[in-house]
Amino acid sequence: MTILIRNGTVVSSTGATLMDVLVDGETIAALYAPGASASQGIVADREIDATAKFVIPGGIDVHTHMEMPFGGTMSADTFETGTRAAAWGGTTTIIDFATHHTGERVQDVLAQWHAKADGNCAIDYGFHQIIGGVDDDALKAMDELVAHEGVTSFKLFMAYPGVFYSDDGQILKAMQKAADIGATIMMHAENGIAIDVLAAQCISRGETDPVYHGLSRPSVLEGEATHRACVLAGVAGNVPLYIVHMSASEALEAVAAARHTGANVFAETCPQYLYLTLEETLAKPGFEGAKWVCSPPVRTGHAHHQADLWKGLRTNELAVVSTDHCPFCFKEQKEIGVGNFSKIPNGMGSVEHRMDLIYQGVAAGQLSLNRWVEVCSVTPARMFGLYPKKGAIAPGSDADIVIYDPSASHTLSVETHHMAIDYSAWEGVTVPGKAATVISRGQIIVDDDQYLGRKGHGRFQKRGLSQYLS
Ligand code: URP
Ligand code: ZN
Ligand code: ZN
Repeated sequence: MTILIRNGTVVSSTGATLMDVLVDGETIAALYAPGASASQGIVADREIDATAKFVIPGGIDVHTHMEMPFGGTMSADTFETGTRAAAWGGTTTIIDFATHHTGERVQDVLAQWHAKADGNCAIDYGFHQIIGGVDDDALKAMDELVAHEGVTSFKLFMAYPGVFYSDDGQILKAMQKAADIGATIMMHAENGIAIDVLAAQCISRGETDPVYHGLSRPSVLEGEATHRACVLAGVAGNVPLYIVHMSASEALEAVAAARHTGANVFAETCPQYLYLTLEETLAKPGFEGAKWVCSPPVRTGHAHHQADLWKGLRTNELAVVSTDHCPFCFKEQKEIGVGNFSKIPNGMGSVEHRMDLIYQGVAAGQLSLNRWVEVCSVTPARMFGLYPKKGAIAPGSDADIVIYDPSASHTLSVETHHMAIDYSAWEGVTVPGKAATVISRGQIIVDDDQYLGRKGHGRFQKRGLSQYLS
């Protein structure tokens, strides 16, 4: 099947140019200057008029947790529902986390994640590996995953003692291993030991509402852990370190300082930290704030976290926007924590909305059009070894293409979203722009408000090492 996308504005990280794009089979075959495809008599099985629309590389969300056992329950989106929802919003690749705990064999965990995803995904996918218990076997497994499995990034946790937590010695060993083999260490940087003390003190004082989730995880403890992670990465030989889900000014300062010394330190943030405040979410009366319980927490609007994060995105101190999509229903899942905020499953669902929410930043003048494409698609591909197969509108690249209509707008709601959760963390937010047509490896999977994809279309992507340094 061939597709010719005519008259669209092709947007990359460096420019925006009127061009026609020819897709042949699963890949992009050619780009034509305006009028050239017509004058050369190019025809295709399907022609799409993209006049006044952007033609962008499909979104890449490098931080999702589909059907992840966590907090005594399981994240509500399966690979089937979660990747379908992602497709609706213009995301054509996800990288999910295979989730290891102490005592488990890393290779077995990875096999379990393959079994969950295989044959179920609407879009392409890859895996990072969480190492929840750093020991000799886990360190050896890192060699195997990088050499043979196309899994080249490993997430460690400075938070969640007793669940995923690694101490500084374990972190250093895993970083040294990663430095040896060229892998990237991803870090959940919050001081979990101190946070657990503060959380227990809240509970003992009867401070059990969701707002105390936020108040017991102060931003300085994210800043401290981020700084410590940067120091350890330097000691380990300048291993590529990628700080996940950054929420706080203090953490951004730590990353900026490390980067200014030339360290291979990178960071992502997520829409919830760019837009939501503790006062408007976690602090809602009663138990409603549980809808926004995630870690790190959304921060107070009385400081300048959000302004700093937007600035960090502009200046490349933040390289990527992901979602940390980890959805739990309000009924029966978030409700596990009624009467004790520390038992509320941590996570929010946004995989469907990332492209639109960050485009909202473009419309509001926070980010350039090129930077939107860069932080949502190009850099994720380069950071995690998928470029230029993904993240580019170029001959030979996979035909993962979004035709984005900047003149459309829509209102986010549980009534209309496609994620498998019973509420929307973004209820009532009207966003400018919308994915009009979504193409995944040459197949039109969303078009004009219709879903045309199928489970099993999505393929596992073996990834190379980070290309962001080369
Ligand atoms: O609250 C969060 N972030 N849940 C998902 C697990 C993680 O730490 O990324
Ligand atoms: Zn995390
Ligand atoms: Zn996460």
